[in-house]
Amino acid sequence: MEFTAKYSSFVVLNLFFFLQLTSSAVHVLRQGSSLSVENPDDVLISASGIFSAGFYPVGENAYCFAVWFTKPCHDGSHTIVWIAHRDRPVNGKRSKLLILKTGNIILTDTAEYIIWSSNSTDSESWSRLILLDSGNLVLQTLKNVTVWQSFDSPTDTLLPEQPLTRYKRLVSARSQTDPSSGYYKLMYDDDNVLRLVFDGPETSSIYWPDSTVLDYNQGRNRYNDSRIAVFDSSGHFTSSDQVEFNSTDFGEGIWRRLTLDFDGNLRLYSLDEQKGIWSVTWQAMNKSCRIHGICGPNSICMYNLGSGPKCSCPPGFKMKNQTDWNYGCEPEYKLSCNDRDNIKFVKLNHVNFFGYHPSNLRNYTFEECKKACLDFCCVAFQYRYFPEDGAYRCYTKWELRNGYSYSSYNGVLYLKLPKSFPSEKPVEDFKLSCSSKQRKQIDIAYHKKIMPESLKILFWCASVIGMIEMICIFLVFSFLYKTQKSSDAATRGYLVAATGFKKFTYRELKMATRGFKEEIGRGGGGVVYKGVLPDQRIAAIKRLNVETIDQGEEEFLAEISTIGRLNHMNLIEMWGYCAEGKHRLLVYEYMESGSLKKNLMSNSLDWKQRYEIAVGTAKGLAYLHEECLEWILHCDVKPQNILLDSNYLPKVADFGLSKLLNRDNLNSSSFSRARGSRGYMAPEWVYNLPITSKVDVYSYGIVILEMLTGRNPAMGVPAVDTDGKVWHQSLEAWVKRKKHGAAGENSNSWVEELIDHAMGYDYDRNKLENLLEVAIKCTEADRHARPSMSQVVQMLLFDKNDP
Ligand SMILES: *[C@@H]1O[C@H](CO)[C@@H](O)[C@H](O)[C@H]1NC(C)=O
Ligand SMILES: *[C@@H]1O[C@H](CO)[C@@H](O)[C@H](O)[C@H]1NC(C)=O
Ligand SMILES: *[C@@H]1O[C@H](CO)[C@@H](O)[C@H](O)[C@H]1NC(C)=O
Ligand SMILES: *[C@@H]1O[C@H](CO)[C@@H](O)[C@H](O)[C@H]1NC(C)=O
Ligand SMILES: *[C@@H]1O[C@H](CO)[C@@H](O)[C@H](O)[C@H]1NC(C)=O
Ligand SMILES: *[C@@H]1O[C@H](CO)[C@@H](O)[C@H](O)[C@H]1NC(C)=O
Ligand SMILES: *[C@@H]1O[C@H](CO)[C@@H](O)[C@H](O)[C@H]1NC(C)=O
Repeated sequence: MEFTAKYSSFVVLNLFFFLQLTSSAVHVLRQGSSLSVENPDDVLISASGIFSAGFYPVGENAYCFAVWFTKPCHDGSHTIVWIAHRDRPVNGKRSKLLILKTGNIILTDTAEYIIWSSNSTDSESWSRLILLDSGNLVLQTLKNVTVWQSFDSPTDTLLPEQPLTRYKRLVSARSQTDPSSGYYKLMYDDDNVLRLVFDGPETSSIYWPDSTVLDYNQGRNRYNDSRIAVFDSSGHFTSSDQVEFNSTDFGEGIWRRLTLDFDGNLRLYSLDEQKGIWSVTWQAMNKSCRIHGICGPNSICMYNLGSGPKCSCPPGFKMKNQTDWNYGCEPEYKLSCNDRDNIKFVKLNHVNFFGYHPSNLRNYTFEECKKACLDFCCVAFQYRYFPEDGAYRCYTKWELRNGYSYSSYNGVLYLKLPKSFPSEKPVEDFKLSCSSKQRKQIDIAYHKKIMPESLKILFWCASVIGMIEMICIFLVFSFLYKTQKSSDAATRGYLVAATGFKKFTYRELKMATRGFKEEIGRGGGGVVYKGVLPDQRIAAIKRLNVETIDQGEEEFLAEISTIGRLNHMNLIEMWGYCAEGKHRLLVYEYMESGSLKKNLMSNSLDWKQRYEIAVGTAKGLAYLHEECLEWILHCDVKPQNILLDSNYLPKVADFGLSKLLNRDNLNSSSFSRARGSRGYMAPEWVYNLPITSKVDVYSYGIVILEMLTGRNPAMGVPAVDTDGKVWHQSLEAWVKRKKHGAAGENSNSWVEELIDHAMGYDYDRNKLENLLEVAIKCTEADRHARPSMSQVVQMLLFDKNDP
């Protein structure tokens, strides 16, 4: 009797095993059935396969029940759109999602605790759980009545046609790697206005719409109390308070999501399905550092493409909690308000702390403002010219919160510090150092339950039989799949090609370059070799000098993935990297025609090609500086770093490396002073002025002058002074002198006197003159007088001489 009971349980166990092995695509989950965390195949898939629901790993042995886009992104991660229980992940063992006979969905942790329940009931007890192609997870009765749906309890993301209504809210994730509830919320306020709110541990405030401007003046309507916001499949968003916008790629047929990101910005994303990349097609805050609370008290935020906002401490302050920026910074000094003789104010350019001043004091002189601050026992004051007042305003701060720094912000902050504060600390050119990435790992220890002895034996027997069964099944399957294998491999190769970015092993790259044989370039921290990748693509493989890198692998990867994500036809594409032991290699696309330098030296470029190179390079740099919403500085623009493809179209190379290299000789400044190349370096480097995107504009101007005149800027242009002494003037000075020297009937010939006749005589005189004028503007000694890169593009494309 006992024997048969045991035997039947074997059968059941093994049947279960078999079912789990084969049921890889579940479309409907009926009452009484469950999904288990232990079986990676226990995933509910929508009818067309676009969405999946199941247990998703969020940390070491920690899982959440979630809905995600089935197809992974280019970096292999999945885009999660909904989580059932974000603040309480479950154990990786024996946790389950069950649909009870009552119509309630419950989630258990280690089969012991119910940690989430849908609280739904179904009187007919025939309901089933389905994942719709809209991304909505619904519990439906036989009559298709929805008993419960995930769209009613959004996490941090809205999908097309998913409404946000009264009592519902989006709550951001805690960090990029931690999906638990963060501090930012999108919701309808009590006055019917849709707002973004920072609700931190100590303070809370509204940052969207701008709280310094009346809602009415920002087009918000307080009197429509239907409170509903939704965006449709063509990317059109509306809210009952009259917020309305279109995604920049307005139209049907694109997957989109509206996500309140962990950095507090609300962004609409569109999916490039081929490449597996989400791109931003609208965002609430163009300046993410204006988002409140992003760096904690006393710290300053600066936005960085890819890695998001970065925080840093002002001079005289240090990070409070080394692992968490939400704690901000704390002063290293104690200051008494009465001891005025021991106080000085240190100037921070382009820095502001939002709020926390009693009122703005208008038409104050600097001394009056300083006195007001001291009388008030402030911690800092902001002093700024307001053109509309024709005078300065003074803001005395009693706390430093919501700090941000933008190169375009022209206010100045005066920070109160003790007189003894060392003045050689960088102040004027104060730069933000990198924050440590928050990589909180949720760690749940699994406590084994002690099994009764008899159960143990049963378990072992079942396992052994299961094992034998598995081997049999494996043999059968491997036989069946053999025939399919070759086509599989082809698909995989295509996938890699489509997603682009890949990690290579050192061995692969050594083979690709045949032992680093064919050197094609040098500089920028390493030697570049030509190689052929396993998929037959020709690549340029850069081997970085190990001595110049003092980053750990993780930091290296963070920077690399930032660079790898940049995508523009005038920027070199990075295909992958290798970080193994001491080895650091970058794999780029190979450019047939070599560098601009090489082509200039061999006089092989005509006017048309040179003009296209000037425009393309400007577009590439403009993308780096501005179009990605914030800037990346190149810091080493020169003809060696502009590569030409088979059609002689340019691509800028070596960008983003200024961050990777030469970190050791910097203290709190993130840039080495000895950057750039002789002849192309902007005066800021020499005179210790703030380094902004204008250094690249300067170098670009020099490159254009070199391209048009054929003269090497590193050599200068020889000149003879009145005493007959020969000296060298700089290329840009020579060009400017020629231009200004031109007068009278010769006034037009200055262009002809300058240009490199190797480009031939078939040029457009107007365009050439315009290009020269642009280059001259770019090489102004005063960085404020230079145009931005996108203005350069405008000036070249909309030539004033064109009809
Ligand atoms: C279900 O009810 C419990 C107890 O009232 C509540 O804590 C929980 O948030 C509810 N679950 C959902 C998904 O609303
Ligand atoms: C319920 O929906 C399914 C799929 O959309 C459909 O095939 C079925 O006919 C519907 N049943 C009822 C009763 O409407
Ligand atoms: C209120 O908002 C809803 C949804 O956007 C809209 O349909 C309705 O017309 C609005 N009502 C008024 C009076 O504007
Ligand atoms: C969005 O695009 C549609 C179609 O082009 C247009 O009718 C509508 O006015 C646009 N809305 C906004 C807010 O730009
Ligand atoms: C953000 O920038 C985009 C593109 O430059 C612009 O269309 C939009 O109006 C800006 N949004 C805000 C809130 O300033
Ligand atoms: C620092 O932050 C971490 C993570 O939030 C926290 O666990 C730890 O207790 C904090 N340490 C101190 C000293 O506040
Ligand atoms: C600012 O104050 C000065 C002196 O008190 C006064 O002469 C000047 O008119 C004021 N300017 C404005 C714009 O109020």
